[in-house]
Amino acid sequence: MSNQQRGKLVVGNWKMHGRLAANAALLQAVAQGSGELPADVRVGVCVPSLYLAQAQSLLKGSPVVWGVQDVSAFTHGAYTGEVAAPMVTDFGATFAIVGHSERRAYHRESAELVAVKTQRVLEAGLTPIVCVGETLEEREAGSTEQVVGGQLDEVLAKVSAQEAARLVVAYEPVWAIGTGKSASAAQAQAVHAFLRARLAAKGAADVPLLYGGSVKPENAEELFRQLDIDGGLIGGASLKDQDFLAICKAAAATSVAG
Ligand code: PGA
Repeated sequence: MSNQQRGKLVVGNWKMHGRLAANAALLQAVAQGSGELPADVRVGVCVPSLYLAQAQSLLKGSPVVWGVQDVSAFTHGAYTGEVAAPMVTDFGATFAIVGHSERRAYHRESAELVAVKTQRVLEAGLTPIVCVGETLEEREAGSTEQVVGGQLDEVLAKVSAQEAARLVVAYEPVWAIGTGKSASAAQAQAVHAFLRARLAAKGAADVPLLYGGSVKPENAEELFRQLDIDGGLIGGASLKDQDFLAICKAAAATSVAG
């Protein structure tokens, strides 16, 4: 399948931002703006889980889907403060991000834990967005492929080929997240091609591969034109309706229907 046939996917990762009133304005603007996009551009937002019901009520019937930024590794039980994947399903969600570098770094999530969370997300009928990425130190040491390959392999080892085909994978170099310093299109494409090959070996060559890390309206189109970049996972720029929609339009400009 060519990158054009795969279509494009743009997902916002709000992180720990938002309040009811501001969310309502943002969700409504995104829902409205997304109505003008071609059918082969899919748009999603991953909100703090407290706001899932709000996202559901304001996005239902629009082309925009919603999801969360993490789930528990357990389905239920005495895990104070955790949110289980089946609970997320109750709110009509589509996506759950797993393995974001902020969770790996600040919450000490291991590659193995991320793989278990991926299983829980799949079992709940949701689409996992599995994040992988190297630190600046790792890149400079020449170990980017070893790091992202290892992170992906841990997940692929725990899922069947059929399940692997249901994943979305996001390449997010840690040094590019929230820094304003995106990977160049060529740097990102090189890692995406590597990840594509790993997925192909598992029979999942057509998994959407998103790039994340300082994607902005100004750099989105060039990134999205790369052969193995199927869209973006957008942090800071997903909090501003105009910027997020401009990034969605950049995806449309690189899609077949756009
Ligand atoms: P950023 O974050 O777009 O603010 O760099 C991306 C992410 O962490 O998903």
